[in-house]
Amino acid sequence: MTQAEFVVVANRLPVDRIADADPDDEEGWRRSPGGLVTALEPVMRKAEGAWVGWAGQADLELEPFDFEGTHLVPVNLSADDVENYYEGFSNDTIWPLYHDVIAAPRFRRQWWEAYVKVNQRFADAAADVAAVNAIVWVQDYQLQLVPRMLREARPDLTIGYFHHIPFPAYGLYSQLPWRRQVLEGLLGADVIGFQRVADAGNFARAVRRQLRYETKASGISVPDGRGGTRTALAKAFPISIDADSYIELAQRPDIQARALEIRESLGNPKKILLGVDRLDYTKGIRHRLKAFGELLEDGRVSVDDVTLVQVASPSRERVEAYIQLRDEIELTVGRINGDYDTMGHTAIRYLHQAYPREEMVALYLAADVMLVTALRDGMNLVAKEYVASRVDNRGVLVLSEFAGAADELGSAILVNPHDIDGLKDSVMRAINMPAGEQGRRMRALRRRVREHDVEDWSREFLDALAAFHDRTSAVT
Ligand code: G6P
Repeated sequence: MTQAEFVVVANRLPVDRIADADPDDEEGWRRSPGGLVTALEPVMRKAEGAWVGWAGQADLELEPFDFEGTHLVPVNLSADDVENYYEGFSNDTIWPLYHDVIAAPRFRRQWWEAYVKVNQRFADAAADVAAVNAIVWVQDYQLQLVPRMLREARPDLTIGYFHHIPFPAYGLYSQLPWRRQVLEGLLGADVIGFQRVADAGNFARAVRRQLRYETKASGISVPDGRGGTRTALAKAFPISIDADSYIELAQRPDIQARALEIRESLGNPKKILLGVDRLDYTKGIRHRLKAFGELLEDGRVSVDDVTLVQVASPSRERVEAYIQLRDEIELTVGRINGDYDTMGHTAIRYLHQAYPREEMVALYLAADVMLVTALRDGMNLVAKEYVASRVDNRGVLVLSEFAGAADELGSAILVNPHDIDGLKDSVMRAINMPAGEQGRRMRALRRRVREHDVEDWSREFLDALAAFHDRTSAVT
């Protein structure tokens, strides 16, 4: 049986199933395109690592298998598990609660029970595959109980946890009926990473208020269950993208040609505005559409000159809030287009689809203005992808101050998406920005994204984890 020195535990495995392929055949899978997967690939190869996760489909009975140098350990979820643990507690309780209650979180005891049960199965799978003294890195809000469960089963392990989404202010967090258990679950880790300094602060405050543990910049004192204490570190480690791969794609002649083709297919408007999001109520798509609709109504922009391309990739399609959101957005898009389209030009080109990275980079190159108007977002990697892709130092990023990326990308036009008038003015400013200013801002943005890519992120987190573990184990 495989015993790995380095184990990642995430809700999803780093592979996607090729449609209709046999899931028992290694050929039936392809690597998922995400940045986390790319970032961890070299670490995985070097450490002969293992990845514990769900294959993304209910009721598959998969055995562990090797894929391109990584040992994959599937956690098989039944249709009930998917409904209660994934769609229910993860995406209808925690997701809205942690995103400032933009949608109302639903608190169901049955969902919580499933969350505990499924977290235990992830923890058991990780405990089985981890070698003695291995490093285990748990990812994201679906698995907040895993760190403590793992520590109980395997006190020899060094455990890290990274929280990819926001951690809310205590006034909101305290609504959670299981607020103590979740904090205790997270505190099973040696290092708990957050996107923003503010998230780490909110977490420390919740720990102080709820558990009365002592929190200092140097760490949080956590009872070790043997009458003593151990120290856990909660700190910001902002995630990034594999910038070089975007730069390489953006330099490819075929992708640059595709960008021109996209412009042409839209009737060569003077300006293309672009939104790229999972279809999620946290992304502020409605606010963006409202602002654009009003600019058309006010006559400040015309469909002959300006088109908005909105890519909204399908997401969590069985969760009620997402079903409603889709209806609302599609109604709004239909209305705006009905009112303003001409035979030759469309106001909004709406695409409810996901595209390969090549096509995304072509779109980024075609877009004069990128609109990221999230109402709350852990980081927002689309903002960083746009910036990395603009090898021509052109284009304007309009970025919500409520996205984690705003902490690093201060040279964007920062907006409060709730302020529709302010948002409209910012869109106009972006549309009319002179090339010189575009270049100055874009160069500063690009510098930041290139200097701190996803490899730096994973190295910094893992270095902190190793250093912290060495220090605390030397003391105890
Ligand atoms: C966010 C979360 C991830 C999640 C992704 C896609 O980025 O932080 O953990 O994987 O959304 O959502 P899904 O529910 O399809 O995994």
